[in-house]
Amino acid sequence: MTPVADPDPSQVLELLAAFRRSKVMFAALKLGVFDILAKNGHTADEVAEKLTTHPEAQRRLLDACVGLGLLQWDGQKYRNTAAATAYLTQESPQRLTGYLNFSNDVMWGLWAHLDDAVREGTHRWKQVYGWDAPIFSHFFQTPERKREFLMGMHGFGVISSPHVVTAVDLRPFRHLVDLGGATGHLAVAACRQYPQLRAAVFDLPDAVPLAEEMIAATEVADRVSVVGGDFFVDPLPPADLFALGRILHDWAEDKIHQLLQRIYAALPSGGGVLIAEKLLREDKTGPNWAQMQDLNMLTCTEGRERTLAEYTALLEHHGFTRVQGVVTPSPLDAVLAIKA
Ligand SMILES: C[S@@+](CC[C@H](N)C(=O)[O-])C[C@H]1O[C@@H](n2cnc3c(N)ncnc32)[C@H](O)[C@@H]1O
Repeated sequence: MTPVADPDPSQVLELLAAFRRSKVMFAALKLGVFDILAKNGHTADEVAEKLTTHPEAQRRLLDACVGLGLLQWDGQKYRNTAAATAYLTQESPQRLTGYLNFSNDVMWGLWAHLDDAVREGTHRWKQVYGWDAPIFSHFFQTPERKREFLMGMHGFGVISSPHVVTAVDLRPFRHLVDLGGATGHLAVAACRQYPQLRAAVFDLPDAVPLAEEMIAATEVADRVSVVGGDFFVDPLPPADLFALGRILHDWAEDKIHQLLQRIYAALPSGGGVLIAEKLLREDKTGPNWAQMQDLNMLTCTEGRERTLAEYTALLEHHGFTRVQGVVTPSPLDAVLAIKA
């Protein structure tokens, strides 16, 4: 009898190790490895001394970081790769450290109960942290956690927003209001790209100080204001274009309808709504980034990711027309719809 060859186990083995690799990066970040190596290379012993870690264990972690392409080793000293310096150091304007720390400190615990989330169809805040309140009160529990979360959003935002605002034509619009705009990266990217545009970032009052700080540091600060408020309750500032960046995927269907209804009512005829989310393919078989984000929404929000057809149905239900979706090479895609 011809022996049947075993199926290739590489995909299973790859996924078995995937969480370990994430944790290596999270631990090195949390310990401060990439900040220590931002300017100069150091030996393992020097890193261990600066970080007050166990020298041999530190060397093992550094070697793993070399294996993962986050550090380089010249036979004596360890150095950051260019990507580590750009995305994993506190001083870098492109840092993703907020989102990474949030992933390690908060989401890791929620994801540990993904099986329960699938059983029950709900997020895990109460099970893991004992918190039973509206979702953003969890993110904003302490000033440090709030800043960390918003800076995490910012890290992804600065990568994505320049793609989102150029994926669709925003030249017809004069006044953008970015609802839940956090640090203002989308408003800033839009004002950089479109000289005719003025913008306001509308977010919860708790988010306003950081938004003001981040926007003040940009060259378009004179065209971007910040307004504190609750987009479910307070009057929306006047606009001919509202943006919703990673907002609709946070909320249950009834709240999405409430928000879209308010936006439609506030817009003039010809006004638009710009949605920045990662689009699932119509058959939902990918892209994997969007699928993982969808499960992330399951573990930590009321919401989910959608296909363009699903966004179109939501938007058309409220009277929007000319729905246009553009996939970008960044973590977020663009959907633009117009009020007839
Ligand atoms: C997932 S973050 C997205 C932030 C930003 N749009 C981005 O893409 O980086 C959601 C944002 O919505 C804000 N937010 C949540 N509930 C809100 C509400 N009821 N009114 C106004 N903003 C709200 C949060 O403060 C947070 O900045």
